Amino acid sequence: MTNRLKRLELTWIGKEDRPRLEPRILLEDEELSYAKRVSNEDIFDNRLIHGDNLLALKALEQEFAGKVKCIYIDPPFNTGQAFEHYDDGLEHSLWLTLMRDRLELLHRLLAADGTLFVHIDDNELGYLTVLCDEIFGRPNRTSLVTFKQGAATGHKAINPGCVSTANYILIYAKNKELWAPNRLFTARERDDRYNQFIPNVDDVHSAWEIVPLTKAYAEHASLSEKDARARIRSNPEDIDGFVASHADQVVRLARPDYKAVSKEARALIDESKKKPDVVLHLPREDHKDFYFIRGERILFYKDKLKEIDGQLVAGEPLTTIWDDLLSNNLHNEGDVNFPKGKKPEALLKRVIEMSTKPGDWVLDSFGGSGTTGAVAHKMRRRWIMVELGEHCHTHCLPRLTSVVNGRDESGVTSAGGWQGGGGFRFFKLAPSLLEKDKWGNWIVSKQYKPEMLAEAMCKLEGFRYAPNHEVFWNHGHSTERDFIYVTTQNLSPDQLRFISEQVGPERTLLICCGAFRGKPNFPNLTVKKIPQAVLARCEWGRDDYSLNVTEQAPVVAAEEAKAEASTNNGMKTKASGRRKKPAPMQALPLFAGIDNESK
Ligand SMILES: C[S@@+](CC[C@H](N)C(=O)[O-])C[C@H]1O[C@@H](n2cnc3c(N)ncnc32)[C@H](O)[C@@H]1O
Repeated sequence: MTNRLKRLELTWIGKEDRPRLEPRILLEDEELSYAKRVSNEDIFDNRLIHGDNLLALKALEQEFAGKVKCIYIDPPFNTGQAFEHYDDGLEHSLWLTLMRDRLELLHRLLAADGTLFVHIDDNELGYLTVLCDEIFGRPNRTSLVTFKQGAATGHKAINPGCVSTANYILIYAKNKELWAPNRLFTARERDDRYNQFIPNVDDVHSAWEIVPLTKAYAEHASLSEKDARARIRSNPEDIDGFVASHADQVVRLARPDYKAVSKEARALIDESKKKPDVVLHLPREDHKDFYFIRGERILFYKDKLKEIDGQLVAGEPLTTIWDDLLSNNLHNEGDVNFPKGKKPEALLKRVIEMSTKPGDWVLDSFGGSGTTGAVAHKMRRRWIMVELGEHCHTHCLPRLTSVVNGRDESGVTSAGGWQGGGGFRFFKLAPSLLEKDKWGNWIVSKQYKPEMLAEAMCKLEGFRYAPNHEVFWNHGHSTERDFIYVTTQNLSPDQLRFISEQVGPERTLLICCGAFRGKPNFPNLTVKKIPQAVLARCEWGRDDYSLNVTEQAPVVAAEEAKAEASTNNGMKTKASGRRKKPAPMQALPLFAGIDNESK
């Protein structure tokens, strides 16, 4: 038995198949990017990406690995239901493969103290939990939240058995030992056990009077006590408001746990029973002071209040039942219609509030109608959203544009006092770097401009793309002293020598070129040919990993690459075909020699 078989794991058809993803570059569509400066706190480097999320997450990996603080995903639930905007009917194994590949990348993107939230229904919950346990580690599963997403009404209410009104949110920490989520509270109804009032709370405590709350309210509202009681019955929010604005005077009396309190407190309780008309006080260092009357403890309503959305209200710690977030106005949120898929902004607010602070990165790779980006933006977080469907243009784009320009008044806009500002950049995935020519040979895609090729090669070779316009051979770096130069030119020995001299003994340079002549032997240069050097790295020419994963045979270049590399590898000394006139030995333009003619 192998070690693998000894551990608890979920298996399914196709589990062993793993895509060899091409790390694509992202192309900005500046016409669709949008920005508006409103204040100095505006954030502009948010990203909306149109395309398959597997390729998009791979594209983000180099820049964002370990940086994202909160990932919320709401993938297709695999219910077989025909949703208007996407195909939700993947069969189970396919769905698991699809999720596994994405979750593995998401795990890499998550910060060491980051949090993953996966929104799911009961259909795949069990399978998804085991899958996530495998990727994140079971000890890092922190909660399973039940989210009330509907009521027992409509056609589903007549189905046999229980009416399903819940979805679930699985929460994982990347590393529970480093995980420190923000403590959240939910509002709850006024606790009517707080039914006493201290009118003269500003006096010394020994002089405090304690009267019934209704009496105090009647005086405040200039009513008789009888009328006040009638008003409270017909308009309970009136007294709620009175209590909220006099929370330091509203109290209740509670019997203290005599055995559990300190010796000093016990002595004071005894003394208070002997002096029933005065309030006794015991100051304490790390806890609220004790006040006793007739042997009972005075509890203040103000100590129960928590700040929720800028208001002090009675609160209790957030539990795993989220039944307070259903929005009656959900269909209007963001002014986009996304039936069944759209989640309430208040839900995303809670997720983001729990796991991030302003400026942190939030990622949603199943963007839908754009809820996550909209809420993250209103909460001044940085965000990345990926959406494959056309609704990236028809829903996400207009929704986020109106968040930025301050026109979206829906959802959580008022809770955070959002007024607009900031921006986002709209990207699509670049096409595959390689394509086949009419003879079936792999060549660099004709759609690649010189800058794109340089950026793509940086990504493939693990360099940071940062072209230096002063130094023609510097397209990026991996360290302070290690650089990369990308050109489709056929470099002569003289050109290579010239570049080697420019680089000097203290630095190293990887040259990715169309071809080279001679046998380069420079200690500071490594010379590779494009595309041979990268052919075997990954699957080329595959754009959609979302559906029909098993049907579509990927274009696998590895075998061909091996064959080519053995005859035509990076160190081939003599270029085949017609020799080109060597270029002069001088600094070339930054992207010199990368001309599509030569492809
Ligand atoms: C349930 S919806 C998300 C709804 C979203 N939470 C909201 O509030 O609007 C799931 C979304 O995932 C998108 N999706 C499915 N497969 C995808 C893929 N491979 N890449 C990117 N997006 C994908 C679908 O197009 C759909 O919009």
